[in-house]
Amino acid sequence: MEFLSNKPLLITDTILRDAHQSQAATRMTIEDMLPALEVLDSIGYYSLECWGGATFDACMRFLNEDPWERLRTLKKGLPNTKLQMLFRGQNILGYKHYADDVVDAFCRKSIENGIDIIRIFDALNDVRNLEQAIKSTKKYGGQVEATLSYTISPIHNEEHFVKLAKELEQMGADSICIKDMANLLLPMDAYSLVKALKETVSVPIHLHTHNTTGTGDMVLLMAAYAGVDIVDTALSPLANGTSQPATESLVATLKGTVRDTGLDLDKMSDAATHFRKVAQRLQDAGILNPKVLRVDTNTLRYQVPGGMLSNLISQLKEAKKEDKYYDVLAEIPRVRKDFGYPPLVTPSSQIVGTQAVMNIIMGERYKVFPKESKAMLKGEYGKLPGEVNEEVRAKAGIAPEDVITCRPADLLEPELEKYKEEFKDIAKSEEDVLSLALFPQVAPKFIANRDNPVAAPDAAPASKADPNAVRELYVEYKF
Ligand code: CO
Repeated sequence: MEFLSNKPLLITDTILRDAHQSQAATRMTIEDMLPALEVLDSIGYYSLECWGGATFDACMRFLNEDPWERLRTLKKGLPNTKLQMLFRGQNILGYKHYADDVVDAFCRKSIENGIDIIRIFDALNDVRNLEQAIKSTKKYGGQVEATLSYTISPIHNEEHFVKLAKELEQMGADSICIKDMANLLLPMDAYSLVKALKETVSVPIHLHTHNTTGTGDMVLLMAAYAGVDIVDTALSPLANGTSQPATESLVATLKGTVRDTGLDLDKMSDAATHFRKVAQRLQDAGILNPKVLRVDTNTLRYQVPGGMLSNLISQLKEAKKEDKYYDVLAEIPRVRKDFGYPPLVTPSSQIVGTQAVMNIIMGERYKVFPKESKAMLKGEYGKLPGEVNEEVRAKAGIAPEDVITCRPADLLEPELEKYKEEFKDIAKSEEDVLSLALFPQVAPKFIANRDNPVAAPDAAPASKADPNAVRELYVEYKF
């Protein structure tokens, strides 16, 4: 078989972001990372993915770490490797739409603090939700990686994604990412899609997948044959299962071919020695459940992203509803169809996932609609790709004339000054304002603790638990 490209394959390693997010609820600390930075920086990666919504949230919520400080520390320790982040379009790192000035400020601050490449996606592939982030990233000298949120449905075929990629290229993307968050992209389809994209767009194609269904390595190899420019992999200690395929395996596979990555396996082995200890610590702490490492072909049926599966397991366990796992998984595609086939990625994955949990736990479908479900059905997140079940929409109390058809952020007044005013007593920097704006339930307590550890418990009581336990489940899903 012939390679359709003769360029070395470039590698983005996800060990600092998606690997531990997918396997260990995003609990890797900066202390876990520091000893490995020097060797990671010497390997010759195209980039290291290290920041995103869940890492930002987990830093403050669970690790008592300032996410901005983490970014600056990583930048200092990784001077020769580009740092990459994941950005949820108009949702930034959060779960709702923010005004354009907040999106702009977040891009500026991310780049100022060390990010080189911003991978921008929209859960619904509504390109209007990527406009501002693309514009701002370019304005501040960042590299734009615009994203196709990959999914399968009656409307999501190859032609659909090629057309979308062309549009993103015209909007100014420096590269296009195929984000296969649920490992739904099968090897032969990957070959065909990458080939079609390479024939249609001229910017590099970057492939992100997971190994949940056990097909990830084959997907990457077939994509390499088809000429993909960059792929995401994770160093072996936190690779596979719901995470990315292992870096070392792919590097070894391509050695001596025209697509040889040129990366040093010995250095990777040194880095892996360190991260094996980290993985062991996470497993001993009960955070990494070895169950997520098993091949799970149910994903091919339920189209659920890896991070969502590991969170679903732990959340149902906490709610003592583990026996409902497969009922919920079976309900997810039904809800998805009713909602017009949104791809399942943050925040649509949580919205569809939570609605499915509600439908099962309540014993009656659509007895309850979380407010995020209503917002999605109303078009507040953007245009849903397919047709919405009007009966379900009516049940949610939304009349056809109430559905939003414009770019949702056009309805938002500038917000940045309002946030600065609101948080002027606790924010020490513009970075703090952004943390507070995006994570109002988590950041106030974190900042109080950070700045005054002794007085903190009284000064900033923990936000009250949501009385609705299922809603709490919702807050906990993030990937
Ligand atoms: Co992912």
